[in-house]
Amino acid sequence: MKTPEHQAWNPTSWQTRPAQQQPIYRDAAALADVVAKLSRLPPIVVSWEVERLSDELAAAQRGERFLLQGGDCAESFEDCESDKIAKRLKILLQMSLVLTHGLKKPIIRVGRMAGQYAKPRSADTETRDGVTLPSYRGDIVNNAEFTPEAREPDPQLLLRGYERAALTLNFIRALIDGGFADLHHPEYWDLGFVGHSPFKVEYERIVASVADGLEFFETISSKEVHTALRADFYASHEALVLHYEQAQTRFIARNNRWYNLSTHMPWIGMRTAQLDGAHVEYCRGIANPVGVKVGTAMDAAWLQRLVTTLNPQNTPGKLTLIHRFGAKDIESSLPKAIQAVRATGHSVLWICDPMHGNTESSQSGLKTRRFENILRELDLATRIHQDLGSHLGGVHVELTGEDVTECTGGARKLADLDLQRAYKSTVDPRLNYEQSLELALLIAERNRAPRRGR
Ligand code: PEP
Ligand code: CO
Repeated sequence: MKTPEHQAWNPTSWQTRPAQQQPIYRDAAALADVVAKLSRLPPIVVSWEVERLSDELAAAQRGERFLLQGGDCAESFEDCESDKIAKRLKILLQMSLVLTHGLKKPIIRVGRMAGQYAKPRSADTETRDGVTLPSYRGDIVNNAEFTPEAREPDPQLLLRGYERAALTLNFIRALIDGGFADLHHPEYWDLGFVGHSPFKVEYERIVASVADGLEFFETISSKEVHTALRADFYASHEALVLHYEQAQTRFIARNNRWYNLSTHMPWIGMRTAQLDGAHVEYCRGIANPVGVKVGTAMDAAWLQRLVTTLNPQNTPGKLTLIHRFGAKDIESSLPKAIQAVRATGHSVLWICDPMHGNTESSQSGLKTRRFENILRELDLATRIHQDLGSHLGGVHVELTGEDVTECTGGARKLADLDLQRAYKSTVDPRLNYEQSLELALLIAERNRAPRRGR
């Protein structure tokens, strides 16, 4: 019998496999109609951008770049507004500036943005006061309100999600084309908080030092450093609702390959990484770089099969393993994972998501994460990779450009009691802008590259 990876693939072949976490649409004809419409609409990203990201990820795999992947746990349709999008972009740009300065390598910026509208849930239904309804699965599937109408999955929302994703990326592209991401103009990224932040002095020192470096280089070379530094920005989301992903999968004849053109870098979540499952089947056929979340439940054989199924040709930059073990389990789990992958002879890009293994309930019952655990997991990740002759090539974080109170700790020592003040997430707790910048400063400090030539 042929093993799954040797069977023919097409954008709908996932439908022959068990598909976890899918909405159940009652009206099959309405779903088919939406999928047909989505398949005709223009792509959100284009294949040459996807190829460029693959090349950059291959460089990160060689240790020449570092990946910063971050954004909301779930984007909401309501938050698709200019100020919120700009703030998220700004915090990611500030973090990347700090990281470039400390690590002395280019940072690949990938947002959890422009399509991060679907969420895996621990249960298919939710019961309140004896009433059971389908779980809320994100704005692209249904509504959070606890009524039968709101919770009914609506295929039209797939179109609304596509539109929001396109609007979001259109705005980001315009900002970046206008020079927003240009290192000559870090003042554009001011979030209005630096003035009262505990990191004001350090952040401003880094900005000044980057500005001096640029000026010096441009003076002696009489050239403007723009093309190299007006860095790009890429989109990513969890490839969860497979009808959405399928409908935007296009054959690019020039390259003779299929691309998911709804995003640059889709990833497979931890709950949908089954070897014989629909998500792995879908992702094995696309040319995009793909991420996979790796948790404690994944043993060596599972991980090895994932690596060989998703990247059979061992193409550099194709596969990013995003480990998310939690501070308490990383020491026992990560070394085994590194060794298991090494035994396949394949190379991957390893990055750490220090968020999803560190979620806990606060005393008030709100979901939270402690800054100290996030930092500890990242420190351990760096050390373990180093000790085993591997390297940590990036981070994956849930953050927002706003002043929320969802994670505890950080320089302002947010406590459990502070969480109520501005807890806005309907899903996972995110780092707020100050905690995000602090994390970038700490990563940069701990991984500071030695000065060249010394
Ligand atoms: C997420 O990234 O929001 C998520 C659900 O993560 P994981 O699949 O790692 O649990
Ligand atoms: Co999350």
